Amino acid sequence: MRFLTTVAVASLAFGGAWLGVVEAKSVSGDRVLVLVPKVEAAKLYSQFLDSLTGRGFDISVRAATNTSVALQVDGVRTYDHAVVLSPESKKLGANLSVRDFVSFVDDGGNLVLTASSELSELGRKLAARFGVEYERRGTAVIDHVAHLRAINDTSDHTLVAAGPPKTAAPVLSKQFAHPQSNPVYFKGIAHKYEPSNPMLISVLTGSRTTYSAPIGSDANEGAISLSGKALGLVSVFQTRNNARVAFSGSAALFSDALLSQEGGANKQFTTDISQWVLQEKAVLRETAHRHYLASTGERPEHYRISNEIVYEIDLSVYHDDAWHPYNSKDVQFEAIMLDPYIRATLNSTESTDPKTTATYHGDIKLPDRYGTFTFRVNYKRTGYSNVDVKDTVGIWPLRHDEYPRFLSAAYPYYISSLVMAVGFLALCAAWMWSAEPKTKRTTKQKSN
Ligand SMILES: *[C@@H]1O[C@H](CO)[C@@H](O)[C@H](O)[C@H]1NC(C)=O
Ligand SMILES: *[C@@H]1O[C@H](CO)[C@@H](O)[C@H](O)[C@H]1NC(C)=O
Ligand SMILES: *[C@@H]1O[C@H](CO)[C@@H](O)[C@H](O)[C@H]1NC(C)=O
Ligand SMILES: *[C@@H]1O[C@H](CO)[C@@H](O)[C@H](O)[C@H]1NC(C)=O
Repeated sequence: MRFLTTVAVASLAFGGAWLGVVEAKSVSGDRVLVLVPKVEAAKLYSQFLDSLTGRGFDISVRAATNTSVALQVDGVRTYDHAVVLSPESKKLGANLSVRDFVSFVDDGGNLVLTASSELSELGRKLAARFGVEYERRGTAVIDHVAHLRAINDTSDHTLVAAGPPKTAAPVLSKQFAHPQSNPVYFKGIAHKYEPSNPMLISVLTGSRTTYSAPIGSDANEGAISLSGKALGLVSVFQTRNNARVAFSGSAALFSDALLSQEGGANKQFTTDISQWVLQEKAVLRETAHRHYLASTGERPEHYRISNEIVYEIDLSVYHDDAWHPYNSKDVQFEAIMLDPYIRATLNSTESTDPKTTATYHGDIKLPDRYGTFTFRVNYKRTGYSNVDVKDTVGIWPLRHDEYPRFLSAAYPYYISSLVMAVGFLALCAAWMWSAEPKTKRTTKQKSN
């Protein structure tokens, strides 16, 4: 008996360990490549890297000059995430090109890219592919009002105290929405970003007194190219295949020196950014969806026009190591044939698995139109992964014997033919039984 219990406990523990291995902290894998100028330079970022290790990532720190480092081998990713802390290196790994990085992201890899005033051409071109345009070489972000104040008066005005960052809700944690939150210290280069780009989220921008200018120039010389809120410091990007990329104009932002700076929020900020980019939070997924006839509860091969159907979808969101129900009031269903014929907001309903999923339900009346329709839930919200669920469904016309005997729309015609028949009978009756016309006599009189 005791032996059996031991076996059971052991197998449970083994199963748990195995699950633990499979369910890494990140949804998309735990292999992280960290590129630094030299392996020893990783010491500068030890707090950040330790926090990644502590969160269950398997980190490979490599020198940017190590030519055997590749992101993909024969089209297969060798890492799940890459963090580039070597912005000035002209060459990265095995002569990695912009194309290698883009194809890594296309394959679902996530990237954290950092920059500095001496950003290499490679980093600049790579950022441009995502709509992030870095300032010219040799420029820096300067703020004569908001910067890290030294005790003596030799403060560095390029060590900008930015923040509080804009509310980028799912990317940054709630504490940053508070107007009195601690600043994030930033030393580096600014970038332009397209505010209307729905895939790009700006999470840290300049304040009214922040500007970008060549290092050592006088601000009055007209050298200022970017200032205020238009000046991007850190932006994040989510591609259509839900890969995530972060652009930080400052590698120093991740350094131990600034993470341990008193009164700064760099620690929380870098944790938030890396958790978002490495798919540890705000990851949305559809676990199941179904549609069926409301009357029978069955899903036929094809529907008939104007059928009443039920559409349901289950959504989960990942954060804090587990899947949770995703609750929202704006999940919409569409029935599309070239144009949407129906667009209805789904109501949340009782879930079959309330711990991990939320279920959305809609009672839909199909259009009075036959053809091949697409039932679609296309859910895209800032900071969350995209959910796009499509089903191609045939909607057929009614069979000849499925039409109703009398159509209500045709009642005027039924009535008009009835009225016609009755009128004809009445006319006949009137003609047949009416008295002899008097005109006969008058004709007789005339002939007489
Ligand atoms: C270069 O990278 C490879 C793997 O990518 C690793 O095995 C090797 O130790 C690295 N070389 C140096 C000098 O770090
Ligand atoms: C690196 O790649 C560039 C273009 O992508 C090419 O011109 C150059 O010759 C390559 N260098 C090496 C050492 O492979
Ligand atoms: C002034 O502050 C700078 C930067 O914080 C420091 O390097 C320098 O030693 C300080 N000088 C004095 C006299 O305290
Ligand atoms: C959602 O619920 C409201 C109120 O009960 C109802 O009027 C609406 O038709 C429902 N929406 C769908 C798509 O079923």
